[in-house]
Amino acid sequence: MQVGEGFLKERYIPLQAFREEHKKSIENLEEFWAEQAKVLDWFKTWDKVLDDSRAPFFRWFVGGELNASYNALDRHIKAGKRNRAAIIWESENGETRTLTYYELYREVNRFASVLKNLGVGKGDRIVIYMPLVPEVVIAMLASARIGAIHSVVFSGFSAEALATRINDAKAKVVITADYLYRRGKALNLKEIVDKALLETPSVESVVVLKRGSDDINMVEGRDYYWHNLLEGAEKYVEPVPVESNHPLFILYTSGTTGTPKGIVHSTGGYLVYVAKTMQWAWGIREDDLFWNTADVGWITGHSYLVYGPLTLGLTVMMYEGALNYPKPDRPWEIIEKHGVTIFYTAPTAIRMLMRYGDEWVKKHDLSSLRLLGSVGEPINPGAWKWYYEVVGGKRCPIIDTWWQTETGGYMIYPSAGIQLPPLKPGSATFPGLGVDADVFDSEGKPAKPNGRGYLVIKKPWPGMLLGIWGNDERYIRTYWQRFSRPDEGVWIYYPADYAMKDDEGYFWIFGRADEVLNVSGHRIGTAEIEHALVLHPAVAEAAVIGKPDEIKGEVPVAFVILKADYAPTERLKKELIDYVRETLGPIAAPAEVFFVNKLPKTRSGKIMRRVLKALASGKSLGDLSTLEDEASVEEVKKALEGFE
Ligand code: WTA
Repeated sequence: MQVGEGFLKERYIPLQAFREEHKKSIENLEEFWAEQAKVLDWFKTWDKVLDDSRAPFFRWFVGGELNASYNALDRHIKAGKRNRAAIIWESENGETRTLTYYELYREVNRFASVLKNLGVGKGDRIVIYMPLVPEVVIAMLASARIGAIHSVVFSGFSAEALATRINDAKAKVVITADYLYRRGKALNLKEIVDKALLETPSVESVVVLKRGSDDINMVEGRDYYWHNLLEGAEKYVEPVPVESNHPLFILYTSGTTGTPKGIVHSTGGYLVYVAKTMQWAWGIREDDLFWNTADVGWITGHSYLVYGPLTLGLTVMMYEGALNYPKPDRPWEIIEKHGVTIFYTAPTAIRMLMRYGDEWVKKHDLSSLRLLGSVGEPINPGAWKWYYEVVGGKRCPIIDTWWQTETGGYMIYPSAGIQLPPLKPGSATFPGLGVDADVFDSEGKPAKPNGRGYLVIKKPWPGMLLGIWGNDERYIRTYWQRFSRPDEGVWIYYPADYAMKDDEGYFWIFGRADEVLNVSGHRIGTAEIEHALVLHPAVAEAAVIGKPDEIKGEVPVAFVILKADYAPTERLKKELIDYVRETLGPIAAPAEVFFVNKLPKTRSGKIMRRVLKALASGKSLGDLSTLEDEASVEEVKKALEGFE
């Protein structure tokens, strides 16, 4: 790899090798992916690489059989890697635990037996609601081992959000822990589960990992301690071969309506895709220690903390805790202590850490680092520069990875493992191998160079979602309706991101083109927050928009019309903010609530969020000809006065 500032755009490097390989990869998709699929161990080879007969329900490696836990564990053990570290875990207070591949293998087998004893079988859903501890990985791989389908719910979600997800998936078992530790405090997770379970008829049993020393509420005949269940467990469970398109997991993400979407991922296509993109993006080496700071409750944790690295037999660093606790040099301390070689985090974290000043970074020897990564939202040039210069000492290229829960793995990213392109701060550079991406104008024609438009993916890829759990119609409408031409057999995937391709072909991604907010790199639908607000007895109507925020990227701001007999008080504002936090979780809590008597609406009664957004950020209002009542604009202006 190049050193110095060679990978900044100032120096021209012809990208011939990468370009040629990329062109070949998308011209012969099936041939290309058949070759890549060798990264896995298959029990049975597929009959067909890509089945597009039911497009847009594309199916990869049809007829092939495999098992995800076998690929993450058994095969490495057979290959003599049993004593290699799989997970190096560290808690907020500095306690560390290392699990070798063999230890992880043993635990996964025993826990797979526990799940079987609880009556979980192939195709059954289990929900995992846990802190970031190695047992999360054990539970995920145990689920995969017996062909069950896991749905990890981020432990920051509220009881209501958890219940919605359990019910949508009709999960049989919930796996949780008594406590989650963060910022020196213990949060009783089991209490939240108990609350959620008041309205989840499908759940038969709850497995609780015991971390604290006190007794918590355990429901007789429903709740069991993890360690107690292990006592009767088998030491080995045969990995169940599943067809390539058997769902490995469901992961819920926010959409434009009030209900979250259960994104379903396959086993074969997904694993091929995450393993290969992991190699291509980072040029993985045997002695790498990969630290991805994402929680396993998000896709970044699924693909690049668990399935990608373990399928390749790598070592991951796993940290349970806040990055600025107890001191703002927590990440730098961990990198130095363990010799992390690749550090992968979100721009919101970089901006937060940057604010504390360079001294916190400079106190530590970060010479083990060779690559830095960014994910979740566009990285602003200021944060990029700081990350590159101060954290990476101008030695480490920044791998900015654009992708989504739905895409399974990286789509647009610099392929350091093939040929690292010259970097431009803020651009995720080029589509990776096998990815045919472009930018379209609103008519569906390729946008002019440097012209803003919509990102599109023009060919299927193995990491793509199988669909939305229980809602085929929503799958087609959300991702395939915007630009596809089904009559001509043309299927275009629509990620709902604004983008631009510059005159050198670099992709720039600007953010969501739909009503989904990106708060600290996490997706939350404005409709979800509005829906939560109108459930409060005081609220008649609510409109939520995103307002730019220096650290979080964006924060939700709510405009609320109260019911006649409620007075607009500061106390009520706070109550509404807390109410959203309780119902949806902290990410969704509005930064501010404004009371208004009218909302700007079109003549047909649709709320004009665009107008609210312009007012909140002091931008020009644009065309107001469809506005029904101009007085509403004055209303909102008045409400905004005095804010900040
Ligand atoms: C945004 C996270 C710019 C984008 C992996 C996308 C990004 C949404 C980047 C998906 C990036 C993610 N540059 N924007 N490198 N990475 N996004 O499903 O708007 O939680 O549509 O997946 O995050 O969020 P999700």
